[in-house]
Amino acid sequence: MKLKSIVLATSVVLASNAFAADVEVLHYWTSGGEAKSVAELKKIMQAKGFGWKDFAVAGGAGENAMTAVKARVMSGNAPTAAQIKGPSIQEWGAEGTLANIDEAAKDGKWDAILPKVVSDVMKYKGHYVAAPVNVHRVNWVWANPEVLKKAGVDGVPTTWDAFFVAADKIQKSGAIAIAHGGQPWQDATIFESVVLGVGGAQFYDKSLVKLDQASLTSPTMVKVFDTMAKIKTYIDKDAAGREWNLATAMVINGKAGFQFMGDWAKGEFTAAGKVPGKDFLCAAAPGTEKSYTFNIDSFAMFNQKAADAKKGQLALATSIMSPEFQEVFNLNKGSIPVRPDVPRGKFDACATKSMDDMAASSKAGSLEPSFAHGMAVHSATQGAITDVIAKFMNSNMSSKDAVAALAKAAKTK
Ligand code: GAL
Repeated sequence: MKLKSIVLATSVVLASNAFAADVEVLHYWTSGGEAKSVAELKKIMQAKGFGWKDFAVAGGAGENAMTAVKARVMSGNAPTAAQIKGPSIQEWGAEGTLANIDEAAKDGKWDAILPKVVSDVMKYKGHYVAAPVNVHRVNWVWANPEVLKKAGVDGVPTTWDAFFVAADKIQKSGAIAIAHGGQPWQDATIFESVVLGVGGAQFYDKSLVKLDQASLTSPTMVKVFDTMAKIKTYIDKDAAGREWNLATAMVINGKAGFQFMGDWAKGEFTAAGKVPGKDFLCAAAPGTEKSYTFNIDSFAMFNQKAADAKKGQLALATSIMSPEFQEVFNLNKGSIPVRPDVPRGKFDACATKSMDDMAASSKAGSLEPSFAHGMAVHSATQGAITDVIAKFMNSNMSSKDAVAALAKAAKTK
């Protein structure tokens, strides 16, 4: 058994040396909609003559994937690129493991095309080390209009009070009100929308981005946890451990009325052939219509040992930023292109709403980085805060105790 695994490991190493110009891409896009999206990148790379080695690590929001990246980099065998984003890019940059892709950025005029808030994140010490793929909006609620109609609910509620009235009606009609997967990152995804809806964008910024202790311990934050406690009562008893896409399937199949999830959920509706406005509804989470939490996916590039590996890496970076890829990928993924110059024509109503709302919130000062999706704070701090939220969701912890624990966790570095 042991020998077999050594032989297997050796053959993997041999295989990777044999095709040094291949690109090996580590990602966590394994759901139906996601797999379709990433397949587009593979197609483009193969058309350019590069071999594609898919390193997919299942698990929403990439927790398992991040463990895999660490293991590979530590063993001196880093993949060509890995799905890493936000402040984590700086963390990897500081380890000295990321590759300079300025050549691709210069050829593609990235500095001129990308909004500065985005290009800054893709650079380490002034040099491009990552390529951005998309912009996901996190503060969405997804709904099944049939379920709502049957329960006598008129449209998606825009306040939390109205939401709970609607949720009661749905429960009475025999359906599940909120489709959810009991995983820490999913709990945190709902939490950030509640912080945004209950406290507003400035409160969100102070508490979940700046980690201001006064905001974290404020009565508003107690109200946030009270709202979370109420949300819990509308989630079914089988939610523990459920993957997010299975929760989306519950809305698609009419088992549940609502799901709070970023617009990768739309990729699942689309992959199932569903049409927005007809088969499903997208709306800003209650109280968040004028704000926008963004989540930008990107691929960080790792230093490669083989001399000709760089060619594949630069071609990958160029492909990711190409208007053709940005269009087709985002049509499948549910997100919007990170390049502002991609034509809107083929995008649906949810995507164009995302584009408009992003521009409007950017002007209004209510465009915020997603806490739950690694855009706002150091990964260690994010982990500690997420633990508190998950503990609250899975126990009888009071809102007051949760707030105290939250403020303590925010000091984690
Ligand atoms: C997010 C990621 C999305 C999607 C989602 C579910 O963090 O940005 O692209 O993959 O997790 O895994």
